[in-house]
Amino acid sequence: MAKITAAITGVGGYLPEYILDNNELSRMVDTSDEWIMSRIGIKSRHILKGEGVGTSFMGVKAVNDLLEKCDVDPMTVDLVICGTVTPDMFFPSTANLIAHKCGMKKAFAFDLSAACSGFLFGLVTGSKYIETGAARRVVVIGADKNSSIVDYTDRSVSPIFGDGAGAVLLEPSTDGSGVLDADLHSDADGGVHLCIKAGGSAYPATEETVRNRWHYIHQEGQAVFKAAVSNMSDVSLNIMQRNGLTPENITYLVPHQANMRIIAATAQRIGLPVEKCMINIEKFGNTTAATLPLCLWDYESRMKKGDNLILAAFGGGYTWGAAYVRWAYDGGDFSR
Ligand code: UT7
Repeated sequence: MAKITAAITGVGGYLPEYILDNNELSRMVDTSDEWIMSRIGIKSRHILKGEGVGTSFMGVKAVNDLLEKCDVDPMTVDLVICGTVTPDMFFPSTANLIAHKCGMKKAFAFDLSAACSGFLFGLVTGSKYIETGAARRVVVIGADKNSSIVDYTDRSVSPIFGDGAGAVLLEPSTDGSGVLDADLHSDADGGVHLCIKAGGSAYPATEETVRNRWHYIHQEGQAVFKAAVSNMSDVSLNIMQRNGLTPENITYLVPHQANMRIIAATAQRIGLPVEKCMINIEKFGNTTAATLPLCLWDYESRMKKGDNLILAAFGGGYTWGAAYVRWAYDGGDFSR
C-alpha cells in the first residue's frame, strides 16, 4: 500500500491594512530607511490596529481565505494548530478561538509556542496526525501580533517586526507529495538572548515589570544572528543530504524572514542562489510564526506540483528546524 503523506492542499493569508514604513518609524525612534534597508532589508511592515483586536482576528481572516479558496466545509476539519507567541490571552487558546469563529466546530484545537519556528513545528505535528490516519483535514496556522510585544522606543527591535497570519490545509496524499522529512530542534541555552521576561507565571504583571519594560521583546541581535545562520543552514544541509536534494533540484528555500542578511548567508552556506529563496521581508518584515505560510501564500501562483521546497526557521527558545515539502498542486489551481 502506498505511504500516506500530509500534502499541503491550500494556503491562506492575511495582513492588516495599516502599513508602518521606515519613514514613519524614523519619526518614532532614532533610525533611518537607509540603516534599516542595509542592515535588515525591511521597507515596511503591517500593523494590526484596534482596541481588543488580537492575533485570532488575523488567524480567522487567513483561515477563511484558505477554506474559501479550497472550497472546504469547516465542519470537516479535524484539528487546528496555531503557532503563536502572541495569543489573544492565556486561555482559551488562539487556535480554539479561530476554530470557533471559522465554524470548525468538530475540530480539536491547540496553540503551539515555538516563536518563529511555531508554524514549522505545527506543520510537522499536524502531518503526523494525517500520516497515522488520526485526522483527514488539519489546519495549521502561523499568526502573530508582534506590535503588542515590540517596544517602539527600542531601535534595535522595532524595525524588525510586523503583524500577520498565514494558514495551510493538510490532507492525505499517496502521490509522493507533502511533508516528506523534518529535522527539528530546541535548546533553552539560547533563551536568554531572545525572550520576553514577564507576563508569565515567573513574573506576573506588576507595576515594576511594566516600569522595567519586561513585557517587551528582549533581543541580543548579534548572538541571535549568528545562531540563526549556523542552525538554519546546518538543518537545511542535513535535510538535503538525507533526501538527495541539491541546489539544482531544490525549487525554493522557504526561510524565516528575520533579516535579509540572514537569508542570504543561509542560502550561501547551502550553496543555493538567493534567487531560489522565497523573500517578502521587504514588505512584511518579521511576522514571527507567520513568515513561512505568508511566503507560501505570496509565491503560491508561481509553484508547480512536484516542486521541492525546504522550509527553514529559527526563533526564540532557541527553536529551529527544516522540513522537506514536495508541493502538491499547480499555482492557483483550486479545482482539485
Ligand atoms: O526572528 C527572531 C530572530 N531575530 C533575528 O533573527 C534578529 C537577528 N539579529 C539581527 O537581525 C541584527 O543583529 C539586528 C538587525 C538586530 C542589528 O543589526 P547589527 O548589524 O547586528 O547591528 P548591531 O546591533 O551590531 O549595532 C550596530 C550599530 C550600533 O551602534 P554603535 O554602537 O556601533 O554606535 C547600534 O546602536 O547600529 C546601531 N543600531 C541602529 N542604528 C540605526 C541598532 N539599531 C539601529 C537602528 N537604526 N534601527
